[in-house]
Amino acid sequence: MNEEKVSYGIYSPGVLGILIIGIIACLILILVFNDVVVRNVLTVAVLSLAFIIGLIFYGSSTPLRVKRSELLVEFAKPKENSVMLDVGTGRGLVAITLAKAVKNCKVIGIDTWSPVALSGLSGNTMENAQRNAELENVAHKVKFQQADARKLPFEDNTFDLVTAHELLDTLIVGRDEALAEIYRVTKKGGKFVFSTAVSKFILVKKLSKLGFKRFEFMRLGLREGPTTFVLCRK
Ligand SMILES: C[S@@+](CC[C@H](N)C(=O)[O-])C[C@H]1O[C@@H](n2cnc3c(N)ncnc32)[C@H](O)[C@@H]1O
Repeated sequence: MNEEKVSYGIYSPGVLGILIIGIIACLILILVFNDVVVRNVLTVAVLSLAFIIGLIFYGSSTPLRVKRSELLVEFAKPKENSVMLDVGTGRGLVAITLAKAVKNCKVIGIDTWSPVALSGLSGNTMENAQRNAELENVAHKVKFQQADARKLPFEDNTFDLVTAHELLDTLIVGRDEALAEIYRVTKKGGKFVFSTAVSKFILVKKLSKLGFKRFEFMRLGLREGPTTFVLCRK
C-alpha cells in the first residue's frame, strides 16, 4: 500500500552531512592520537559539532516549522475571499497553511525551486508542493507556479496578502528587485508579511522607501526559532 505523507522537507541536509562526517573524522583521530591535549581539543570539537547538529535538527523540525507557519498566518490575519501570494514557497508550507486557514481564498505559491545546494531545502520541487496541497485537501485553493521573485509574472495591485517565509535573509542577489516586485503586486491597502532572523532593520528601511507603511513586529522566542515576523501595508 502506498501511504503518502505530507512532508515539508528539512533544511540544510548538505551541511548536516558535512558536520556528521566531521564528527566521525574527529572520533577516528581521538582513537589514533595518544596526546592528551590533542584528544581534549578533538573532544571539544565533537561536542560542538553535535550541539550545532542538534540546533539545526531542532530549528528545522517539521512540527516546529508548521508551528512557525501557523504563527505567521495568525499574525497576518488574512481575510475571507483574499487573493494571496507566497513567494519562495518551497514545498508549499505557508501557501498551504494560508489555504487551510482562510475560507474561499485563492493562494499562489511561486518559487524557482532551486536545488537543495542553493535553496537549503530537501526535496524542493513543485511536484512535492503540489502533492502536499493534495494531501492537505487544499489543492483546489492553491496553485503553484514557477517564477522568480525578482520578476513576478503578475499585474500591479493583484494580491491582498503577500508572504515570504525564510526567503529574504538568504536572497542576497536581487533582493531589492524582489522587494520592489512584491510592492508592485500588492494591492493598495494589502499586506506584506515576512520572516527575518538577521536583516530586520535593513529590510524595514528598504520597504519604507518603496512605500510600505504601518509596520508591526512579532518576535518569536528561542523555542520557536530566533526569528521576527514583520507585517507592513501598501
Ligand atoms: C529556505 S526555503 C523556504 C521555503 C518555504 N518558504 C518554507 O518556509 O518552507 C527558501 C526558498 O526560496 C526559494 N527561492 C530562492 N530564491 C528565489 C527567487 N529568486 N525567486 C523565488 N524563489 C526563490 C528557494 O528555491 C527555496 O524554495
